[in-house]
Formats: sequence, C-alpha cells, structure tokens
Amino acid sequence: MKLHGNMSIQGSNLYIGGYSCLELAQNYGTPLYVVDEDLVRQNCREYMKYFKVKENNNRVAYAGKAFLPMYMCKLIDEEKLYLDVVSGGELYTAYKAGFPMEKILFHGNNKTIDEIEMGINLGVGIFVVDNYYELDLIERKCREENKTQEIYFRITPGIEAHTHDYIKTGQIDSKFGFALVNGDLNNALEKLQNYKHIELVGIHAHIGSQIFDIEPYLDEVDIMMNLVKKIKESFGISIKEVDLGGGIGVYYTKKDKPRTIKDFCEAIIKRAERTCHEIGIKVPTLVIEPGRSIVANAGSTLYTVGSIKDIKNVRTYVSVDGGMTDNIRPSLYQAGYECAIVNKIGYDKINQVTVAGKCCESGDILITDTNIMDIQSGDILITASTGAYGYSMASNYNKIPKPAVIAVKDGNTKIICKRQSYEDIIELEVNGVLELELND
Ligand code: LLP
Repeated sequence: MKLHGNMSIQGSNLYIGGYSCLELAQNYGTPLYVVDEDLVRQNCREYMKYFKVKENNNRVAYAGKAFLPMYMCKLIDEEKLYLDVVSGGELYTAYKAGFPMEKILFHGNNKTIDEIEMGINLGVGIFVVDNYYELDLIERKCREENKTQEIYFRITPGIEAHTHDYIKTGQIDSKFGFALVNGDLNNALEKLQNYKHIELVGIHAHIGSQIFDIEPYLDEVDIMMNLVKKIKESFGISIKEVDLGGGIGVYYTKKDKPRTIKDFCEAIIKRAERTCHEIGIKVPTLVIEPGRSIVANAGSTLYTVGSIKDIKNVRTYVSVDGGMTDNIRPSLYQAGYECAIVNKIGYDKINQVTVAGKCCESGDILITDTNIMDIQSGDILITASTGAYGYSMASNYNKIPKPAVIAVKDGNTKIICKRQSYEDIIELEVNGVLELELND
C-alpha cells in the first residue's frame, strides 16, 4: 500500500498524522474514517499557490460533493478557497458552518424552487445556471426581491475525457448544461437580454472526473476562451470569469499515474494566457473546482476483520465490518483500492484475498484479489484514499450505521462526524401502521 501524506511506519505499525492506526481503532471503534488534516491543507495550499490565486486573482472552489461535513467548510474557509455546492443540503451545511455565502458557487442541473429561493435569500455569490427553467426561476425570484443575481452559464463543451463512463459529463449527450453545437447557449444568451435581474459574469464547464490527461483541459481552455470572445462580439457581454470545473485524477492503485497539482495548474494557466493572447482578449479570472484531488488521499478507512472464508483453489474472502455502505465506489464504478493490516506492515507472509463488505449483496466487495500480510480475524485493515466520495456517498443500506469520522494532526485527534447509533437510524421513522377502516 502506498503511503500518502503524513502516513508513516514505526516498527510494523502504521501511523497517520503521528497517531497509531491500531490505537485509533481501539479508541474510536471501527469502521472509522480517518482524515489527515495536514494533507488536506497542503493540497489546498498547492492549489492556491500554483493556480496563482494571489498573483492573478484566480479562484479555487472546493467541490463539496467529495466530502462536506461542517469541519471541511471551516477548513476550506481558513485556507481561503471558495466552495462549490450542489444542493440545498450542502448549502445549508456551509451556512451553518459559517462559510461566507458570497464565496459559494451553487451548482446543480435541477435546483428546486425551494433551493433557488434559499440560495437567493442566503446571498449565494454565483448560481451556475444549468438550463432555461432555472434561469426563469432566478429572474422571477430576484424580481420579487428586487435583487440582482450574478450567474455563470454551464456549458457542455463536447469534450470526452478519458475516464469511467458514468462520470463523464463534458460530452454533448449529457444532462448538464447548455450545449454549444445545437445552439442552446445562443438561445440562452438571447433570452438573457430580457432579464433585468440576472448578471452573467462567467461561463463554466466540467469535463469529467478522475482524469489523468492534461490535454482535455487545454482543449477546454481553448473552447472557453473563444467563447468569451464570441459572447462579447455577438451579445456585447463581457465574461469576466471562466470556470473550468474539477476532475483532476488521483492515485488509488498502482495503475493510476496522476500528474501533480502543480503540473495541472501551470499547464492550464499557461494555455489560457497563450490562447487569450492569440485571439486578442484579456485573460479572465480563472476558476477551478477540485474535489477529489483535495481530499481523496487524505482519507483512509479502518475496519475490523471478521469472518475469513477460504474456498480451496477458488478464493479467500476476508469480510470486514463495513463495505458498500461506507464505500460504494468499488460496487458502483469498479474502483480499485489498496489495503494493509495496520500492525503487520512489512510482514513476509503474504496471502491473496478478496476483501468483502458485510452487506447482503454478492457485489459488496471492496477489493478483489489483493495481496496482504498474514491476515486473521480481529486484525485492523486499512483501505487508503477513501477521503473523496466515501462518506459523502455513504448509505444506511441494511440499516448499517454510518461510521464516525476523525481528523488527525500532529498526534492529536478530533471527532468531526459522530458514529451513527441504531437510535439515529430509526429517528425519522414512525412506529405505527395506517389504521384501516373496516366496512362491514
Ligand atoms: N465541479 C463539478 C461541476 C462537478 O460535477 C464535479 C464532480 C467537480 C467539480 C469535482 O470533481 P472532482 O475534482 O472531485 O473529480 N462519485 C464519483 C465522482 C462524481 C463527480 C461528480 N462531479 C466518484 O466517486 O468517482
């Protein structure tokens, strides 16, 4: 297993942020998500530095969908990032955490009337408008309130990034955004002329997720910059901000070869400057929205090994006390992960095993055929790089409680999300049935 951030080995024990994983499991129970706070901060700082936030006035907006407890809102605010939210729930979390509303980008392809009203009432900085329906709703609400709302238009630029099919969003056949090729964007721009309460300040595109190639981003930059020029020429609107979305890929297993944050940022900025120079426009404020690349490698999950089922000449199933409820990514995207036994690092005896979850589903497999140190029931197993789209996609399937999340830093720990109890699980349920009226 690759060591990330502040993971270290002492003897045969794995430590994160100066804290022994075995002790973490003993003190807080399993399954347990562990967040390496310094690594999250380091990733934020690299983005802020290499995306030239200070020098060029660019912006980095953390994509909250990756992992958004209130703790993250606070941390992101301290690190001076903006925040991308996609639902009333995410917006509410940010609001309750005291995140500055003017630094919020509100995304989503089907914001409800309630969500739009909530965003406008709370004073969200930017609505990333996805469709005509939303445009109408924002105008109507702002007219009532006598307010002006700044917006970006979400564009479907028609770029196919090399990634898993389910998470491709830049191509024309997409539920997101206004397409360029079929004239949707032009229609929206025309419509805008009649709207007095909406100010178009930017354009946005997101070309997919877990992308390793820089090339698609450079194409995206070219398309977007040319669009800025065209919008000015055809509609007289000055686009001040260009948001290139998120999607930068990270290491999960040996087959992943991610580029650095620095490489991505520098290449994007260089290309934007070159293209703008060539087509004769001023370089707009650039915005990016990384989610996974800020938190994925900073998160790990600790499990206790339970049943070990050895089917001779077939496979050995090692079952842990979590699974698809705390990490749906292997079942949903066939995503790969690395694992280790936290107090047997460096052990020679290696077995090939399949790590299974405890859900009542054959597909609840966390890692298929992985090599691991001599494994026994009661061992603490760690899966690395579960910080993004783990807790945020967790469910209560089979009525399994959500694990706790703790942050570690310099040998200190802090619970950032409490473990769910069985009581929490039934909290919203009513203990009763409909009383049937029996007619005789
Ligand atoms: N901006 C927009 C508009 C997005 O839709 C997304 C992700 C991001 C930014 C952040 O992308 P990131 O840097 O995290 O790749 N559940 C899937 C990923 C879905 C991503 C959806 N949108 C997974 O677990 O792989």
